[in-house]
Amino acid sequence: MTDTSDYEELKRRVSPQAPLNLGLNDGTYAPAASIAALQEFSTRTSLRNYTTANNDPLRETIAEIDGVAPENVYLRNGSGPILKQVIPHLVKTAIKSSPKRVLQHVINKSGFPIITPRHTYSKVPRKAAGLGLTVEFVPLEPPNFELDVGELDRILSKRDGLVYITTPNNPTGNVLIARAAVERLARKYPNSKFWIDEAYVHYVDPAEHAYCSDLVPTLDNLVVSRTFSFAYGLAGLRVGYLLAPAALVRTLESQVTDYRIGMLAERACIAGLRDDSHLPFVREKTREMTQKIIDGVNAMDGVEAFQTAVNFVLCRTTDGRNAQEVADAVAARGILIKTFTPIANQRYDDYFRLTVGVGAENQFLLDTLGDVLRR
Ligand SMILES: Cc1ncc(COP(=O)(O)O)c(C=O)c1O
Repeated sequence: MTDTSDYEELKRRVSPQAPLNLGLNDGTYAPAASIAALQEFSTRTSLRNYTTANNDPLRETIAEIDGVAPENVYLRNGSGPILKQVIPHLVKTAIKSSPKRVLQHVINKSGFPIITPRHTYSKVPRKAAGLGLTVEFVPLEPPNFELDVGELDRILSKRDGLVYITTPNNPTGNVLIARAAVERLARKYPNSKFWIDEAYVHYVDPAEHAYCSDLVPTLDNLVVSRTFSFAYGLAGLRVGYLLAPAALVRTLESQVTDYRIGMLAERACIAGLRDDSHLPFVREKTREMTQKIIDGVNAMDGVEAFQTAVNFVLCRTTDGRNAQEVADAVAARGILIKTFTPIANQRYDDYFRLTVGVGAENQFLLDTLGDVLRR
């Protein structure tokens, strides 16, 4: 789908069998330089050679831009696989390091809880709860979904754990914690671990919100994850990375194979990181498109949309209707949107999330939603 896509063509093409997926948060536009880099691989011999075993050129570029050393960069096919690999590793290592934690783990699996906001990237608490680990939710309430850092501090003063914070947050779309607060908490609680998921951070101008990446070399209990799936519009390439203490990167590397990121993906990512015009362009486009969605939803009855700093908009029903009903009706017209099933004791029945699309997709989404809500 390109931004010149035509509304009528979209309407003809989209169906419940071939849906438009606005539920996964994929980005919109890739850097022009990434596309140019991809186009260089156009002959039958372009891809005949292996890339470097550890993707050093990409690690070096990331390190330079994010203010870390190449030894702090762990690359994989997306940050999702990194979360899945590394969170259990961190929790296990933390539990094994203390007899008291081992005992707590044996008694009720509370040896090293996951501490995370009530609204977060749901796969993390869901997976942890599925393993029977204790998940402690920090409140996050509408309309501003502000994280009470004092409350987080109080929780950490009582117990060590793995703090997982996505900022800007999925699904609430707002910046949850300032870099200074991350640094202060990580220093104050050296026995806890801090995971700052910056999957969406590039949508926010660093002049407005300082990123956490360059704190990593100074703190051994902080990791920061990133991805090319969203603001870099390259979800289809599957590249994500973790910024972490060098010793942890070495351990993680030993758990997986070399040559993980293909040459095509490596070159496209390097070119994208060096394309200075890309992020300002994407930020402006995204603001325009999310505002259109927010205004459109807020003009409808029975729903409200919340402000966002990123490429998706959290909404909720205000008329008691279950959001799944809305999602099902929209899906019957060929558009997939995100709803949230319960995790542990948390319910999200009235919430749904809309990801911005390109071209006519946003108008098509609004018209479809309006049609469904009028019935
Ligand atoms: C906060 C957050 N982190 C990580 C991911 C995983 O993204 P990827 O595996 O494409 O890097 C997602 C995907 O939705 C996400 O929302």
